[in-house]
Amino acid sequence: MCSTLRLDQTGKQGRLRRKVKTVGLQLAAPLAVLAVVSFAAGGANAAHRHAFARGGLAGKIQYCQDCHGLRGQGFRGYYPIPRLAGQQPQYFENQLQAFTEGRRPHPIMSVVAHTLSPATRAALAAHFASLNPPPIGGGPRRLVEAGRAIFQNGVPDENIAACAACHGPNAQGHGQIPRLAGQLYPYVVKALTNWSKERGRNPAISDTSAIMSPVAHSLNRSQAKAVAAYVSTLR
Ligand code: HEC
Ligand code: HEC
Repeated sequence: MCSTLRLDQTGKQGRLRRKVKTVGLQLAAPLAVLAVVSFAAGGANAAHRHAFARGGLAGKIQYCQDCHGLRGQGFRGYYPIPRLAGQQPQYFENQLQAFTEGRRPHPIMSVVAHTLSPATRAALAAHFASLNPPPIGGGPRRLVEAGRAIFQNGVPDENIAACAACHGPNAQGHGQIPRLAGQLYPYVVKALTNWSKERGRNPAISDTSAIMSPVAHSLNRSQAKAVAAYVSTLR
């Protein structure tokens, strides 16, 4: 693969190999759970990874599907795996870049994103943007109404901005601003409550996470849960 060649040239391949190995060990337990994600048998899972290693867009898509679901609908389990279906391509590509630049360090996705060329990233972004499976939901229904109010109007007394102002009235997002419609409840709660631990982590590179940062910090946990429950129901 061309990324391997690039790594060869810079002499970093060994380091990456070691990293992949460590990650493999650290993730042994979650990956066992992630295996359940696959809609295919365990053997097909291995076949997916083989296809990924061989390259080709179809193989890469299958590899993403192992975790993100057959139709990019996400996976609600031990560890939430976000929905990619219908995601804004610009946001999607920016996040892949963020995983590689340490702006958004993540044990799995940083390794995955490193292997993807810019052209492949763009093709994957276009593929997932074109999918629109129904949301898999998962949020407590009793929170949905409170979440809708926060999403549409914010909480002016508490200086909480209306999410709709940036993410759009139907939470479809735009450009660098992600779609939230149908995003998994536990994933959104985690993103909002951990914002500065997960994003904008490379001080040398400024990024769009700074726009969202004050909003995430303005929400308390129950407000974050309410708004997450609301967006998880949207198509
Ligand atoms: C082994 C499981 C796994 C595989 C395989 C995987 N991902 Fe992910 N991906 C994750 C997890 C877990 C997250 C959430 C990271 C977090 O919590 O911040 C994620 C996050 C993402 C995000 C950020 C989504 C958002 O809303 O911010 C994108 C984009 C993404 N993955 C794309 C891909 C693509 C493209 C592939 C295939 C080339 C892929 N992933 C393969 C597990 C996986
Ligand atoms: C001023 C514009 C703005 C407002 C208002 C705003 N956001 Fe965001 N939001 C963004 C941007 C930009 C990003 C992308 C950040 C990045 O690139 O890391 C984002 C990202 C997110 C993400 C991460 C999505 C993912 O797939 O990982 C969540 C969740 C989110 N916003 C929820 C909210 C909620 C809930 C509100 C309302 C309380 C809100 N946002 C209000 C601009 C905004």
